Amino acid sequence: MSKADELLALKEKFEAWDGCALKKNANPVFGHGNGDSPIVFIGEAPGQKEDELGIPFVGAAGKFLDELLGSIGLERKDVYITNVVKYRPPENRDPEPIEKEQCMPWLKLELSIIKPKVIVPLGRHALGHFLPKITITNAHGKAFKINDDVTIFPIYHPAAALHNGNLRSGLESDFRALGAFLEEAGILSPRAV
Ligand code: URA
Repeated sequence: MSKADELLALKEKFEAWDGCALKKNANPVFGHGNGDSPIVFIGEAPGQKEDELGIPFVGAAGKFLDELLGSIGLERKDVYITNVVKYRPPENRDPEPIEKEQCMPWLKLELSIIKPKVIVPLGRHALGHFLPKITITNAHGKAFKINDDVTIFPIYHPAAALHNGNLRSGLESDFRALGAFLEEAGILSPRAV
């Protein structure tokens, strides 16, 4: 079975699952993109547009993410994008710890199929799962090799930067650092940057 088929089967199981209370008022938004990619981006939870379309990062933060990907020679089709929490919290509030816990097995299953070399947590909610002892302020823009195969490369959440010019330039420079890391690790070909 290809990774795409495995992910599709997992998505179908997820859509039939009723284990998170957020599902009462929101639509399921599973991960999306290239399951053969060595890079997975992980956000916090879907917003309104994502809830409407059932695809992660398709609203304003997603457009900015597309621009940032483009700045290092990547397109959406080159990466896989998902969220820690897979339903929109009411009024886009922060996800509760229990909601993160309930949805986490799905993220783990996605990662076990994709087996990415680089995981990019976008913001503190995704970072907290991989590197619970370090804050996003200290970790962003740096590579953390957690075992022989996987590096965590945390980046600020693109939504946080939409209305904050300083964060915006911070995010742009984090992406340059990510691009350089991917190139050095032989994951992104130099001609793409
Ligand atoms: N913010 C997120 O964290 N995820 C999305 O899918 C959209 C916005």
